[in-house]
Amino acid sequence: MNEYKVNKVLGVILGTALFLQVLHIVDGAFHPKEANASSEGAAKAEQSAGGSQALNTLLASASAEHGAQVAKQCQICHNLQEGQGNKIGPDLYGVVDRPVASVAGFNYTPALKAKGGKWTFAALDKWISDPRADVPGTAMTFAGISNEKQRADLIAYLDTLSKSPAPLPKAK
Ligand code: HEC
Repeated sequence: MNEYKVNKVLGVILGTALFLQVLHIVDGAFHPKEANASSEGAAKAEQSAGGSQALNTLLASASAEHGAQVAKQCQICHNLQEGQGNKIGPDLYGVVDRPVASVAGFNYTPALKAKGGKWTFAALDKWISDPRADVPGTAMTFAGISNEKQRADLIAYLDTLSKSPAPLPKAK
């Protein structure tokens, strides 16, 4: 091959790479991540994606008693009973279905304040599995709980910390 042909071949390769790159960007623009959607939309998307179905099944047979044991690791930073006030994190009494970042007098990060929505079962599940992945920039420096059954038990326990606990999903 002479120099001219080599250049031509390289040109075609570069051109193809650029084209694929552009395709990738365009594709990304037309499929915005869930995080960009409204939290309501995201919650619906999660449900339709079946993510919540697995959670619902686990919640239907969850053990709040076991959840109380799991919650011990939260109590380093959180009070769980009514009127106990904030520690390193806000009081978690009544957290299920509470609007995100809504405890008066707690200095939330801008990241958590911007999250919006309520602490539904599904929102809690995602948060507890990896808070810093769920809300980058959060001050909750907790690694997360990877075991989904432990999370469901914990959520069932958190749900008891209320005068009117939200009904847990029923077994199908
Ligand atoms: C190392 C301390 C620490 C631990 C451990 C911890 N948290 Fe937190 N948590 C925080 C802090 C700090 C915030 C506030 C985060 C922010 O403003 O970004 C927070 C916020 C939260 C919120 C949001 C509350 C609201 O009012 O919006 C929930 C829910 C929560 N934590 C649940 C838990 C659960 C459940 C556990 C145990 C599995 C846990 N946390 C363990 C420090 C902690």
